[in-house]
Amino acid sequence: MNVSWHSLMEDIEACRRCGLRDGCSRVVPGEGRPDADLMFIGEGPGADEDRLGRPFVGRAGALLTKMIEAMGLTREDVYICNVVKCRPPHNRQPQPEEIAACLPFLRAQTALVRPRLIVLLGATAGRAVLGPDFRVTRDRGAFVERRGVYIMPTYHPAALLRDESLKRPTWEDLKQVRDRLAALPPR
Ligand code: URA
Repeated sequence: MNVSWHSLMEDIEACRRCGLRDGCSRVVPGEGRPDADLMFIGEGPGADEDRLGRPFVGRAGALLTKMIEAMGLTREDVYICNVVKCRPPHNRQPQPEEIAACLPFLRAQTALVRPRLIVLLGATAGRAVLGPDFRVTRDRGAFVERRGVYIMPTYHPAALLRDESLKRPTWEDLKQVRDRLAALPPR
C-alpha cells in the first residue's frame, strides 16, 4: 500500500471491514511523530482510548508514558499505535479475523513512519507482526531484524500492572532499545 497520511486516516476512519467499529465509540488510529525512529505497537484501544480517540491514555498508557520517559524520550518523539484501531467489546482480545482486517493499516502506518526500531507490546502485537508461533515469555528481549528494522518484543504494560515482577525484564528490553537507538547512525 502506497498512501498518504491523509488518505490513510480517512480509510481507517471509514473502515467497516470487521464488526468492531459498530461496537466502539471512536476509532483510535495512533499518534506521535510521523517520522519517528521508534514505534510502539500495542493490542487495541481500551475504554479510555475509545472515549478519547487516542492510544495508551489509560492506566497502561500512563505506565507506557513513564517507560518512554525513562528511556530519555517523550511520547512526542515516538509513534504509538495498536494492532486493531477499534475497541473490542469488554476489552476482549481481538480475534484473528479482526486482526487480519486491520493489519493493512498497521503496515501502511509502518511504511509511512519508516521507524528504525519497533517495540511490540505483548502477545497480540507479537503474533500480529512476527507470526502465530510468537510466545511473549519465550521470545521477548531479543531483537528480530526485518528489512533493516529492529523489532523488540516485550511485555504489555497492562501485564506489568497485573504482575510487578515483569517490570524489571521489560526495562531490560527497553534499555536495549534505548541503547540501539542511541547508536544508530544519522539517517
Ligand atoms: N492497551 C493497548 O494495547 N492499547 C491501548 O491503546 C491501550 C491499552
